[in-house]
Amino acid sequence: MGSRFSHLGLRSRVTLAFALGALILSASMGAITYLAARQVIIQQRKTSALHQAYVNASLVRSALRSPTPRIPELLDSLDTLPGSRSVLERRGQWFATSISIGKQALPRLLRAGVVGGSAATQSFLLSNTPELAVGIPVPSVDAAYFEVFSFGSVARTLRVLALALAGAALVTTIAGAVIGRWLSGRALRPLGTVSKAAVAIAGGRLDTRLPTDDSDLEPMARSFNHMADALVERIAREARFTSDVSHELRSPLTTLNTSLEVLETHSGELSSRASQALALIATELRRFGRMVTDLLEMSRVDSGAAELSTEEVAVGELVVHLATSSGAGVPAVLDPAVADRRVRVDKRRMERVAANLVDNAAQYAGGVTRFAAEHSAGRVRLVVADRGPGVAEEDRSRIFERFYRGTLSGRRGETQGSGLGLSLVAEHVKMHGGRVFVEARDGENRFVVELPLADEPVRAANDNADNAPSGREVPRR
Ligand SMILES: Nc1ncnc2c1ncn2[C@@H]1O[C@H](COP(=O)(O)OP(=O)(O)O)[C@@H](O)[C@H]1O
Ligand SMILES: [Mg+2]
Repeated sequence: MGSRFSHLGLRSRVTLAFALGALILSASMGAITYLAARQVIIQQRKTSALHQAYVNASLVRSALRSPTPRIPELLDSLDTLPGSRSVLERRGQWFATSISIGKQALPRLLRAGVVGGSAATQSFLLSNTPELAVGIPVPSVDAAYFEVFSFGSVARTLRVLALALAGAALVTTIAGAVIGRWLSGRALRPLGTVSKAAVAIAGGRLDTRLPTDDSDLEPMARSFNHMADALVERIAREARFTSDVSHELRSPLTTLNTSLEVLETHSGELSSRASQALALIATELRRFGRMVTDLLEMSRVDSGAAELSTEEVAVGELVVHLATSSGAGVPAVLDPAVADRRVRVDKRRMERVAANLVDNAAQYAGGVTRFAAEHSAGRVRLVVADRGPGVAEEDRSRIFERFYRGTLSGRRGETQGSGLGLSLVAEHVKMHGGRVFVEARDGENRFVVELPLADEPVRAANDNADNAPSGREVPRR
């Protein structure tokens, strides 16, 4: 095959190899069969032709011994095979049974040789039909007997045989290709399992392993599983490291915070430069504290220790609670289409999600302008909107990455964040089977948390739910 076929897929190459193998085998078998059959058939036909020619020659000899031989009748009375014709030469005179074969049709050399006294055979073509001429001198009566046998039917038989063998070769080749295709499909099936397992691991199902019951595939399955184990171990180690580091940082941080409080109570006694420095320390310390908290949370998410403890709550109740707990500063707006539907959430995590979004709006956009629950294709959307600068198009997916803080680099110095907030939001929402994204719409910059609804709608909790206006407002506590 070589490099010319290397651009083909493995299956195509196996199929091609099988087809080629079948073709070579069936073609050589066919050729051998054909040659052997041809040899046998022609030989048989030649033998019977010779036999008949000698029988007829002896008949001719005894007939010509009679005093008044009638040669045309004699020739007609001879036994002939289908397709054979007799020619007789006697004392320079020629007689034939067929008008198509006479003296002229016989090959000259044969004619001369036989008339000269030696028996001979010769194959020749007569109007494209193979013929065999047998010549036998009959010197006792001054004659030479010729018989011409047509090999046309033999040629036809051989043509049919060749066609049948070629057809068989073709069928065998196709069968070879089909078998190759099928076998390669079967042989490659384990690879499908491997790739499914790899996809599962990449998708977070880290306990996925391959079965090791097939002895041929065992080495591969083992090394795959080994790799998965190593991966899991490594992830766990990294999460442990982050968690350990964050824990270790907590106690000095507490000490620093306590000391800071002490210093702050005495800030009146400090010079203005010193109290400026103190304010700076306070800011950085708060930022540091937030980062350590976020890192701890992240490591819990990563190690999978962060089990979801969910409960089913009404959307309206949840959103009002989140608007309050996050300090959004605006009343929650509820779409009546979802206000009474239910969602299954981990409340503590949803509080963290809301707090992060509200925090960001306060930091980067002058505060939340709308905190709402909307209905969208069987799901509920929590919208935290602001009227700040928004997020640049190219940053919209990247801001959910860890430590990514956007291209608002000018503000970087003043901000309090760690760059982890939105990635935590994304992790928490993902665990709920939802998604989070940011969009700009109607002059608003909207962070949208989309969650699946817990299947069935819940009956109206109170009787006046029916006449609730759209966009019912629930005042904040
Ligand atoms: N409401 C918002 N308006 C504009 N930009 C935002 C908003 N919220 C987040 N961002 C951008 O997304 C980045 C990532 O946010 P986040 O993950 O919370 O990290 P942090 O707040 O610690 O910087 C922020 O640095 C900011 O550039
Ligand atoms: Mg933030």
